[in-house]
Amino acid sequence: MCVAILVTGGAGYIGSVTVELLRQAGARVVVLDNLSRGHRKAVGPDVPFYKGNIDDRALVTRLVREHQVDACIHFAAYAYVGESVSQPSLYFDNNVRQGIALVDALKETGVRKLIFSSTCATYGEPQSIPIPESHQQWPANPYGWSKLVLERVLEAYDRAYQFRSVSLRYFNAAGATAVHGEDHRPETHLIPLVLAAARGAIPHVSVFGCDYPTPDGTAIRDYIHVADLGKAHILALEHLTRGGPSEFVNLGTGRGYSVLEVINAAKAVTGLSIETRTEPRRPGDPSRLIADCGKARDVLGWLPAYTDLRSIIGTAWEWLEGNPRGYDG
Ligand SMILES: NC(=O)c1ccc[n+]([C@@H]2O[C@H](COP(=O)([O-])OP(=O)(O)OC[C@H]3O[C@@H](n4cnc5c(N)ncnc54)[C@H](O)[C@@H]3O)[C@@H](O)[C@H]2O)c1
Repeated sequence: MCVAILVTGGAGYIGSVTVELLRQAGARVVVLDNLSRGHRKAVGPDVPFYKGNIDDRALVTRLVREHQVDACIHFAAYAYVGESVSQPSLYFDNNVRQGIALVDALKETGVRKLIFSSTCATYGEPQSIPIPESHQQWPANPYGWSKLVLERVLEAYDRAYQFRSVSLRYFNAAGATAVHGEDHRPETHLIPLVLAAARGAIPHVSVFGCDYPTPDGTAIRDYIHVADLGKAHILALEHLTRGGPSEFVNLGTGRGYSVLEVINAAKAVTGLSIETRTEPRRPGDPSRLIADCGKARDVLGWLPAYTDLRSIIGTAWEWLEGNPRGYDG
């Protein structure tokens, strides 16, 4: 029997796309997700699916043994910055305590390769742009801290237990494949909100801050297509399988777009008007977040296929047109 890859959070946005790509690449995949924030329909009926928490050691041990799991891609987490500020205990419990329980269960069953969903939120306020992996990490919110703590745990486990990992620090995931798209509830990400406003599903899109020190006054972010993210996970697994060392790697395109540029690109893609409303800046929102993605290229051999904002938004729009009610359709 050939080995399998355990994907936690595989019923979520990035996890479901990565499972799709892994299967296209011929890999055997097992999904573990408690469906607290994901969708059962985001996982194909032919993929072994376990509904449960990542801290359920008995379940993790059983599925590692039954499916001969050899590596894990760990997406499962809570990921709302605002919620992490109002309910930090939820974030430290789910993302840190449960994350450590998962890693311990893997270690004890002999699984020693893990790809971890980290985030540019671990950097906090950038001191330089583009942001390299060596940039200081001082998160501006409990969500960022919860991810940074697990990065440090993985670093210590590498030294002590030869538990190898690649922490991928994503910038802003966006877009869709033909089958899987973004359906967060509530939705807080800019591109799905802009497209919801274009469809009239919400009355307007809020622009938080128009007085940033950027050319048009709105905040600039680095949008990376979700299929490019998925591909990077496969390359990171190959890196560990080749015996490569543990790494921390940014995933972005190295190009930033402002909120107004996103809205204008969405107008061009959809041919529809989009109402906007200017609101005050949100605390802790930096003016620019752009990745230095040289390490992803040099260490993983990764290059994004989608570098143009319109084509990224185009894939999200196509998915939304085919699935106007998301996974409820
Ligand atoms: N979306 C982004 O732009 C972005 C950027 C940086 C980092 N990330 C990270 O990438 C990962 C995936 O993001 P996403 O947008 O796909 O999120 P998502 O909410 O769509 O998916 C997360 C999945 O994990 C599951 N889950 C959460 N806690 C669990 C637990 N304790 N046990 C089992 N399952 C659990 C949820 O049900 C959900 O299906 C997260 O770790 C997130 O922090 C996302």
